[in-house]
Amino acid sequence: MSKKLAFIGGGNMAEALIAGLLREHTLTPAELLVCEKSPERRAYLENQYRIETAAENARGPQQASTLFLAVKPKVLAEIQEEIRGALTPDHLVISILAGISRERLAEALGHPERMVRVMPNLPAQVGRGVSAITFPATLPESGREWVRTIFRSVGEVVEVEESLQDAVTAVSGSGPGYIFYLAQVFIDAAVREGLSRPVARRLVTETLAGAAEVLRRKEDSPEELVRKVATPGGTTEAGLAVLLENDLAGTFQTLVARAAQRSRELGRPLPPAGEKV
Ligand SMILES: NC(=O)c1ccc[n+]([C@@H]2O[C@H](COP(=O)([O-])OP(=O)(O)OC[C@H]3O[C@@H](n4cnc5c(N)ncnc54)[C@H](OP(=O)(O)O)[C@@H]3O)[C@@H](O)[C@H]2O)c1
Repeated sequence: MSKKLAFIGGGNMAEALIAGLLREHTLTPAELLVCEKSPERRAYLENQYRIETAAENARGPQQASTLFLAVKPKVLAEIQEEIRGALTPDHLVISILAGISRERLAEALGHPERMVRVMPNLPAQVGRGVSAITFPATLPESGREWVRTIFRSVGEVVEVEESLQDAVTAVSGSGPGYIFYLAQVFIDAAVREGLSRPVARRLVTETLAGAAEVLRRKEDSPEELVRKVATPGGTTEAGLAVLLENDLAGTFQTLVARAAQRSRELGRPLPPAGEKV
């Protein structure tokens, strides 16, 4: 086989991984293949990364030992016909299809013992993602380390039981959306206090990034950090009182629970044609 890794689908997530793998010198352009339907997208990826692309998905398993599924979940039925026949027990298959269980993947493609499910997140685009990996119990350590290496090229990795992937989806998968919304309302509030929008955006962005960096580097729990920053009678304490009065903790519990529930709903197998839902 001439390639180490073939992507099925060359969209946003595939591009984030390709950029990370090349940036970190995990793979060379010659070791990558992208199977992608859109001719414009293929031309863009070829020019931008000097990698080979193909219009036919069957080329993926024919040419590479690891297959990386990066299409939208609803496209699985379409790609399964094209790649199933060419898959062998020696292929490793990595899927980032949100809500699609390893069981459903195995039904579609076979080889459950070589099926890895991963939930990455959007900051992978800037090399600061976090990816939650579920390995099949029988996958040897060498295969596991290869998968970790792939995802470490775009950030950090954690390993979880498959039953926790809906919780992961609700926390880190959807999490960037909550933070972007928080940034939006925080900036609007800063503008209302008289700051220009560009200055407000800079202050809010650097405050979020700086606070996240403190959380990463220090051993202190978030509770301890809150205590350290909120002097009794000071401005932070006055602001935090509003979050308590408005039950932000309750809001976040509901938010994560509802997102996890939605992930479970989306992952349910489709009922047979004609059956009422
Ligand atoms: N984006 C995230 O933050 C994120 C996070 C975690 C997991 N995921 C998962 O990652 C997967 C990809 O997401 P994405 O945001 O990268 O989506 P995307 O940008 O839409 O990428 C999917 C790509 O696959 C192409 N495609 C469609 N049908 C195809 C087919 N039959 N054969 C080959 N390629 C085909 C699409 O082309 P067209 O555009 O022409 O249809 C598109 O370029 C999804 O399953 C999602 O659940 C995404």
